[in-house]
Amino acid sequence: MIGLFDSGLGGLTVLARVRERMPSADIVFFADQANVPYGDRTHAELLELLQANLARLDARGVDAIVMACNTSCAVAERYGWPKTRAPVVDLIESAAIAVDRGGFARVGIVATAATVGAGSYGRTIRARVGGIDVVEVPAPALVPLVEAGATEGQRPRAAVAEVCGHLPLDLDALVFGCTHYPVLESHFRAALGDGIALIDPAFMQAERTAELLGSRAQGSGSTEYTTSGDEVAFLANVARFL
Ligand code: DGL
Repeated sequence: MIGLFDSGLGGLTVLARVRERMPSADIVFFADQANVPYGDRTHAELLELLQANLARLDARGVDAIVMACNTSCAVAERYGWPKTRAPVVDLIESAAIAVDRGGFARVGIVATAATVGAGSYGRTIRARVGGIDVVEVPAPALVPLVEAGATEGQRPRAAVAEVCGHLPLDLDALVFGCTHYPVLESHFRAALGDGIALIDPAFMQAERTAELLGSRAQGSGSTEYTTSGDEVAFLANVARFL
């Protein structure tokens, strides 16, 4: 069984990629919507939430905890990962591997304020890809839009354009450093044009999870969704998202 968690709906973008790769895996997904958005919280709060979420999935006896929240990975990279029984697949590491494979010289990262504040993306990518230029830009307005279902139309388009206005024009690639942002991909494409590659680390995350688990990823293909927030609204959004 595979365990995933995020602060909210964004983690479903990772779940979708994991499901594509491992159709018969049994998956438990936890959305900590009582505490969303994580990106505006302090690092101390985020470490506590990380510990609780890892312990929750560990207690289910999962074979792997597949991180679906960059903000949690960012504080873990900075302050140390809590001990877990199950192996953890780090999403920022997956992003760095994807950047390395792409052979880019100058990449931008859009992420939550807490992730950018931790500096984890820059450190992780530079450690893997010598000489690369990494620019991190916070985008705190985007998670609330996605959680509210405001993903189409002028409001999200303008919010994404505002974020992209803070990026240098000469990037080779832009990494979605928050799992909520791939839902807004068409707006990023509209703001940036076709000259910049858009990288969703969830693809590499799913690839690494499949490699790690091998035949242990074979089960009955069940998915269990849980939230610490409003369950009825959450399940309706799950149906809409997937
Ligand atoms: N989706 C999460 C991430 O990847 C956190 C978003 C938030 O709650 O601020 O960082």
